[in-house]
Parts: sequence; C-alpha cells; structure tokens
Amino acid sequence: MTGAPRLNPAVTRLTVPPIAAVQAWSRAYTGQAGPLIDLAQAVPGYPPHADLLGWLAQAAADPANAGYGAITGDAQLRAAYADHASARYGADIQSEHTCITAGCNQAFVAAVMTIAGPGDSVVLVDPFYFNHDSSLGMLGIHTERVAGHAADGFVPSLESIQQAVHAGVRAVVLISPNNPTGAVYPPELIAAVYRLCRQRGVWLLMDETYRDFMAAADTVPHALFAEDDWQSHFIQLYSFSKSYCIPGYRLGAIIAGEKVVQQVAKVVDNVQICSPRVPQVAITKALPALADWREDNRREIIKRAAAFKATMTEAPAWQIQSVGAYFAYVAHPFGAQDSVAVAENLARNHGIATLPGEFFGSGQNAYLRMAFANADSNTIRTLGPRLAALA
Ligand SMILES: Cc1ncc(COP(=O)(O)O)c(C=O)c1O
Repeated sequence: MTGAPRLNPAVTRLTVPPIAAVQAWSRAYTGQAGPLIDLAQAVPGYPPHADLLGWLAQAAADPANAGYGAITGDAQLRAAYADHASARYGADIQSEHTCITAGCNQAFVAAVMTIAGPGDSVVLVDPFYFNHDSSLGMLGIHTERVAGHAADGFVPSLESIQQAVHAGVRAVVLISPNNPTGAVYPPELIAAVYRLCRQRGVWLLMDETYRDFMAAADTVPHALFAEDDWQSHFIQLYSFSKSYCIPGYRLGAIIAGEKVVQQVAKVVDNVQICSPRVPQVAITKALPALADWREDNRREIIKRAAAFKATMTEAPAWQIQSVGAYFAYVAHPFGAQDSVAVAENLARNHGIATLPGEFFGSGQNAYLRMAFANADSNTIRTLGPRLAALA
C-alpha cells in the first residue's frame, strides 16, 4: 500500500470547534465600539466561591489525589451527589446510580456509547447542542431531527417526537433548560416523552446542565425520579461546570439505573480511566456547603435575564424568540444574510460575541444565541444601544 494514510471522515467532515471559531473573531475586534460584550460561550461571568478555590488548592497539594481513582468516581462524591440529587428531586437516588465523569460532554458520550452503536438512531431536537450532534456523528449513530418552532417557544411537540421514534431509535435526547434556546420544557411534556420511551422501549436521555438556573427557587426540570421504574428507561446527565464555575476542572455526572452504570463504567474506563480527582474532592465539600451561594447565583442570572430583556427593547429590530435559564435565542434583522456572517460581523466589527444559529442545526440561519449569563447587568445594558446602532 502506498499514499498518505487516511483520516477518519467521520471526524474530518465536522466543522472546526464552534467556540474556537467565535473566539478568533472576537480577538480580531479592535475596540472601536466599546469593550467586548462576550455572549458567546456559556461560562458564568463570575468566579468560583473562595472556599471552593481553597478546597481545590488543598486537594491539589495532597499527593493522594495525584493517583488514579475509582472508575465511576470517588465514593465520597458519589454519595454526596446521590444525597444532593435525592434532596433536589425528592427522590431516592443511591450512590450506585451515579457515575462521575470528566464533564457533561463526556457523560453524554459515555451514556450514548452504552445505549447505541453504529447504524442506530437517536432523536435530537432541532436546534440541538452541537456537541451532541457531532459526538453522535463520530460514533456512526444517525440522528432523527424533531423541529422546535419559534411559535411554540422552541418546545417540541409530543406528536413530532412520537413520529421520530422508529424501530432503529435507541434514545430520545432532551435538554431542559435548553441550550441553545433557553426554553424550559413543561414537566408534563417530559413525563409524556418518558411514557412514550417506555412504550417504545427506548431511553430518555436528559441533559440537565442548566438545572440550577430555573426561574423559581427549589424547582427541578421534571418529576421522573418519582416514577417507580425510572431506572429502566431514564438516564440523566449533569455538569458541575456552570453551577460551580469550574469548567476547566472538567467534572460532570450521570444518574442511571445500577445496571446501566455498570456498563457505563466500561466506556469510562477506556476513555478516561477516572475523572479528575482534585475537583471531585472539592465538589464533595461544595455540594452541601455552597447551597446559599448557588441560590445567590440563580438570582443573579435571573437579574441578568431581566436586564437583557430590558436592553433588547432598545433594539426592536432584534427580536427575542425565546429566553430562559442561561440563553436567549434572538432573530437578527438581516434576513437574507446567513447567521455565521452576521455573528462574525458583530464580533469582529462591533464587539458583540454571539453564536450563529447555524451552529445548532440547519434552518437556524435567522437566529443568534446570546448567552446573557456570561455578562454582568451593567455590560448587558450596553447591548441594546449597540445593536440599535446597527439596525
Ligand atoms: C447542554 C450542554 N451539555 C453539556 C455541556 C458541556 O458541559 P461540560 O463542561 O460539563 O462538559 C454544555 C456546555 O456548554 C451544554 O450546554
């Protein structure tokens, strides 16, 4: 055999990582319209709690945490997370139902590899979270797309999900609160999708990365953990990145039936061996200790949502289509231009970093995703006038 060795087309056909592309546009901005308003990546615009930084430092200084840990997570964190989730959902979740992962993206990959293989299909709601779509593509898993429509607040209908679940489908993926639209799905819809999954023998895989930013205190996205048989058809994913401001430490979690966790462990052993030890030690302390801080942040993000809605009234050509826990999905006024061109122009020339709708699925060219949670209210207040100057 001669010639250059082949690269995997399932990888080469993917676009460049979306966030990196937008960061490059923002770096090209020279400040002419004022300081950069960064609404691109979903990262909290405030630092981790000082105590959490202390626990991280302490854990990093302990040689015990430099070693490999248990595949499915340190026993202390699994127990603490099970207690935490049990209290949040009013449910009986045990350590054995948890698996700690290196972030929620990896939780998704590990869960999906456990329940689907090449040639199988998974249902995604359009617009989707791009890493879900590309992970499935790399794994040779097909996607069935269910449209979320602006007129319905980007909440998919049960009927459309029903139609998408054909014989080759292994799972329905829902994200609530949603990325990119911010939509919070009604718990009744989630319950109905769960019943559908049970009837059709498929998994409901829910990504609840933004669950700590619901509009009302002490609410959760659904009541599925109250179902006697939740373990037979439900898998939940979570991220510690947003709620604890530690995306760089890479920590996420899966809650699933014990038998599923045992299979997930096989995937996790191969892709990561164990999750990072230092944040596991620190988050074990943070889960119970930082409840008030989490609540303060939830309130802060709600204030930012209010500031965002108020400032957008000053730029009426830019229409909020949906606004929720962390994000707003906004129709831009340049109908004929594709969203990538609009977002690039906004970032490079006007210092407003957003993500183009097209990154979240075809047919999303009319929209931009604005992660208002990234910016403080004073910064957000400068957005409306700056947008209004453009259209
Ligand atoms: C819906 C969703 N899932 C997962 C992730 C990734 O989370 P992590 O940093 O824990 O991998 C994100 C981050 O933006 C997200 O929006």
